[in-house]
Amino acid sequence: MEERNITKDITWVGKVDDRKVPFHRLILEKGTTYNSYLIHSEKPTIIDTVDIEFGREYMENLSKLIDPSEIEFVVINHVEPDHAGSLPALLSKALKAKIVCTELAALELKRMFRLQKREFLIVKDGDALEIGGKTLLFLETPYLHTEETMMTYLVEDQILFSCDVFSTHIAAVELFNDLSKQEYEEDFKVYYDLIMKPHRPYVSQMLTKIKEIPIQMIAPSHGYILRKDPDKYIEIYREKSQMKDLKNPKKVVIAYSTMTGNTGKIAATLSESLTQAGVDVTVFHLKNANLEEVKDRIRECDGLLVGSATRYGDMVGNMEEFLKILQGEDFHDKKAAAFGSYGWSGEAIAYIDDYLNQLGFCVIDQKYLIKTLGVDSPLLPLRVKFSIENQQQVEEAGRVFGEQI
Ligand SMILES: Cc1cc2nc3c(=O)[nH]c(=O)nc-3n(C[C@H](O)[C@H](O)[C@H](O)COP(=O)(O)O)c2cc1C
Ligand SMILES: [Fe+2]
Ligand SMILES: [Fe+2]
Repeated sequence: MEERNITKDITWVGKVDDRKVPFHRLILEKGTTYNSYLIHSEKPTIIDTVDIEFGREYMENLSKLIDPSEIEFVVINHVEPDHAGSLPALLSKALKAKIVCTELAALELKRMFRLQKREFLIVKDGDALEIGGKTLLFLETPYLHTEETMMTYLVEDQILFSCDVFSTHIAAVELFNDLSKQEYEEDFKVYYDLIMKPHRPYVSQMLTKIKEIPIQMIAPSHGYILRKDPDKYIEIYREKSQMKDLKNPKKVVIAYSTMTGNTGKIAATLSESLTQAGVDVTVFHLKNANLEEVKDRIRECDGLLVGSATRYGDMVGNMEEFLKILQGEDFHDKKAAAFGSYGWSGEAIAYIDDYLNQLGFCVIDQKYLIKTLGVDSPLLPLRVKFSIENQQQVEEAGRVFGEQI
């Protein structure tokens, strides 16, 4: 760890980790960098910390630059331990510092690090904070990388502290992209594919948000500080987030059974939501469908949604017959999810979920959402009590499914 100035009054106080670092079930072959920044304003401010493993080293280095008790604000853009991990070490010396973060981040930090007694300054999208001669502007960027995440923009210097966004897992010893002696653009793109792509709609939202602000430099939390041509990296995100093959839209089949129509309404709402996302949808009410034809359509599709109402603890209509004729096919490259309307227990949805797993589909359910998106969401399988009350929830389920195919 070294001290380095990124402008005359901002110092990088990060950690370059050039080992092969284990991370989210991957091994980062080229290591990584944990970037933390000290702004020497009248109210000295830290932006993010470093990985939990380097807390002591971080404090030793920081203490050479400033007496930590003078620090007024610690901005935490994202609570994961690779950024907030050294917060307890920092706070143990920065006794008067206020923690600046989103409401959700505050809840999580308090629980993680037992910070109930510390003073938090909760910020919302678009809020500004005066730090003595400089102004911070906060932009909420949910799911980039997790739900509580935000970015911080330093107005006077036009620097975007983007946290996980625009990051690269690489041991960036030269610190700045224009000084880099190693090829890193491919790593920048791989990082996008691994960390950001599963949250593509939120990337688009974020890009819209930063469109209006002039950016001289992007100071992310991993890898190079992008001071040469930051727009190029924004453009890479824009291109990648818009990648949609309009000539070959993704295909989804929705097949359902119902007694009184509620499950049909869910199917229709899912279909609308997917169609809006550019997906080619075919809906089958199984009662009136030729099951062999449905099976043929499923062979060609990218995703399958199967829904049933629950009647006396079971699926209704010819749903079981339908699921049985799908046996023996290879569906491993197709995504699938269950849905249905129910009254109190909704067993049908659970049975469909079991069947889809047995048939070899890649089933999008809570476990999948946790592993892929890092969200603990009950969105899929989609369970609706009686008739739809929360239209948005059903639309969101369709959208999330569409993003995963
Ligand atoms: C005869 C009958 C049996 C039912 N049994 C169950 C049940 O075992 N578990 C449950 O969660 N809901 C049960 N329900 C509630 C229905 O699943 C609920 O009304 C649902 O909205 C029906 O969906 P549909 O309109 O798509 O048919 C039952 C409803 C009827 C009429
Ligand atoms: Fe993260
Ligand atoms: Fe990270």
